[in-house]
Order: sequence, then C-alpha cells, then structure tokens
Amino acid sequence: MIEGVSVRPMRTEDLDSVVAIEQQAFSHPWSRRLYQDALDSYQCLVLEQDGQHLGHVVMQYIVDEAHLLNIVIAVEQQGRGLGSGLLDYVLQQSRQRGCASCFLEVRASNTAAYGLYERHGFNEIDRRRNYYPTTSGHEDALVMVCSLAESWDFC
Ligand SMILES: CC(C)(COP(=O)(O)OP(=O)(O)OC[C@H]1O[C@@H](n2cnc3c(N)ncnc32)[C@H](O)[C@@H]1OP(=O)(O)O)[C@@H](O)C(=O)NCCC(=O)NCCS
Repeated sequence: MIEGVSVRPMRTEDLDSVVAIEQQAFSHPWSRRLYQDALDSYQCLVLEQDGQHLGHVVMQYIVDEAHLLNIVIAVEQQGRGLGSGLLDYVLQQSRQRGCASCFLEVRASNTAAYGLYERHGFNEIDRRRNYYPTTSGHEDALVMVCSLAESWDFC
C-alpha cells in the first residue's frame, strides 16, 4: 500500500462520501440504500489518507470463496496505484481467512478494471449475456476468478 494510505471498515458516517465517489466513477452507481444494506451483510472497507476518503471495496465471503462485489477509486485519485494496492490488500486478507479463490464480475466494456484484474491473476471463466444495464440497453458481465492458493504468486 502507498505510504500514508490506510484501510479501515466503512461506517454509516462514510455514506455521503461513498455515494459521491460512486456517482462520479460509475454510470450505474450503487445507491445509498444498497450501501446501508451492504454494511450489515458484507465487509465494506474504506481507503483513506489524512482523513480523505480515496476509495472503497465491498467483499462477500461464502465458506472458502471470496467475492469482490465492488471496488472504486475516486476519479481524481485514479492512476496512482491505489486500486491495485486495495485489490492486493483484499486478496491477501481473503487468503489469510482461508479462502481458496476470489470471484468477481466486470462489465465487458470496463477494460481498465479488466486489465487490473488480469494483472492480479484473475482469469475469465464465464460471460453473463446482457447482465448489466447501459444508457442504451444492456451489456455482458465477464465472470473472473483468481486462485488464492499459497503457491500461486500472481495474486
Ligand atoms: C478500476 C479502478 C478501481 C482502478 O483503480 P486505479 O487506482 O485507477 O488503478 P491503478 O492506478 O492501481 O492502476 C492499475 C492498473 O490499471 C491501469 N489503469 C488505470 N486506469 C486506467 C484506464 N482508465 N485505462 C486503462 N488502464 C488503466 C494502470 O495503468 C495500471 O496498470 P499496471 O498495473 O500495468 O500499472 C478505478 O479505475 C475505478 O475506480 N474505476 C471506476 C470504478 C470501476 O470500474 N470499478 C471496477 C468495477 S468491476
């Protein structure tokens, strides 16, 4: 992780900045209501520096599977290595919890995120046709998985 940048659990008081970051970064952002529910159901983490909210990630753990449900870096903070650092962090955490693999879904058009995931050891294993809404219709979701076995050095 970049010096001075830390990760902590998301709290209800973070939801204003969470929603603001989501709305800038995504065409179809998660809503405040979704995040309120996520705080109870999933592991939600905030990336911050000097009290400034830089991004966040939402993880679900099902037995020995980790599921990355969402990851976002504030638009003006993108390209600094923060997304990569946050992904490393949650993959390491998942490994320490004993998870064997991490799954995620990504929009077929999201080449930046797809490249990031590939470089962290994720492989595409499935495609859900017309899964995500777009402004003009629907697009596919690509399902990716990363092995978290200790001997696997990519992630
Ligand atoms: C995807 C995202 C989390 C990456 O975070 P980031 O902090 O910008 O990424 P980093 O600076 O760590 O860069 C990671 C890699 O992605 C590349 N990258 C970053 N932004 C990129 C862009 N717009 N286009 C192409 N590549 C890009 C970087 O060059 C870097 O490559 P490298 O690993 O070979 O050096 C961030 O762009 C984001 O929040 N996007 C909007 C939300 C989103 O799409 N989330 C994913 C949902 S599945």
